[in-house]
Amino acid sequence: MDVTGDPTRAAWAIASRKYEHEYAEHLERARTAELFPAEVDALGEIVGGAEVVHPMSGHGLDDIALARLGARSVHGLDYSEAAVSSAQRRADELGVPCRYTRAVMPASGLDGASADLVYTGKGALIWVSDLRAFFAEVHRLLRAGGWFYVYEAHPLVPLWAWDADEIRVRADRGYFAPSHVNDTFPGNGAVEHQNTLATIVMTCRRAGFEIEHLEEHPEPFWLPAGVGAAAWDGRVPNTFSLLARRV
Ligand SMILES: C[S@@+](CC[C@H](N)C(=O)[O-])C[C@H]1O[C@@H](n2cnc3c(N)ncnc32)[C@H](O)[C@@H]1O
Repeated sequence: MDVTGDPTRAAWAIASRKYEHEYAEHLERARTAELFPAEVDALGEIVGGAEVVHPMSGHGLDDIALARLGARSVHGLDYSEAAVSSAQRRADELGVPCRYTRAVMPASGLDGASADLVYTGKGALIWVSDLRAFFAEVHRLLRAGGWFYVYEAHPLVPLWAWDADEIRVRADRGYFAPSHVNDTFPGNGAVEHQNTLATIVMTCRRAGFEIEHLEEHPEPFWLPAGVGAAAWDGRVPNTFSLLARRV
């Protein structure tokens, strides 16, 4: 598929080749993959026996962790062919109940009311240009009383410079800006959409969810090799997690 007209898809078409190049390494990680402790705390009581949908599933290691926590099935959705095919190969090799479909969110292509839990994050919401449409689709996918969970980069993250000596705010970024162009691996060149924490929470509520839990965390969800930014030393937020219930 020609993705040159869409800088975000073009960036992911290149970046997701790593899922194929690093197949063996990802397979080894998948054998012991676990969710973050905060995710296990939030989902521990929910995930047992659940049919899970994971938009922007990427390498799918979290799907294997969800299956290990007791999910009945996990359906990963990603628009990258390399991501979908390598995740499926890995899941088949490990014999876990995960399957993958290529989809351009928010058009999941799945039946409505078919999921107990929609799980996403770690670099997912930032690629969503229409947050209302995204939450509407998540709402449609869930059965009444079903759960939405996201563990995501904090909306302040685009502002943090990667200076090692002190936390600094990038002069070219703003918290209330609608978007910026990502200038680091793996999303280099992709358009990252920005939404404030308030916008994310209120858009979720207005789509028909009750907010069950919202937390801000100091740790980034991913640490690039060889970088030690002061912004990651525990003083400022780098991630947030949100658990919401479909009304
Ligand atoms: C940073 S990765 C993170 C995914 C996953 N949480 C992980 O840890 O691997 C982002 C993924 O989202 C996918 N993606 C971005 N926008 C998308 C969209 N609109 N629909 C489907 N997939 C999308 C990309 O192809 C990429 O695999």
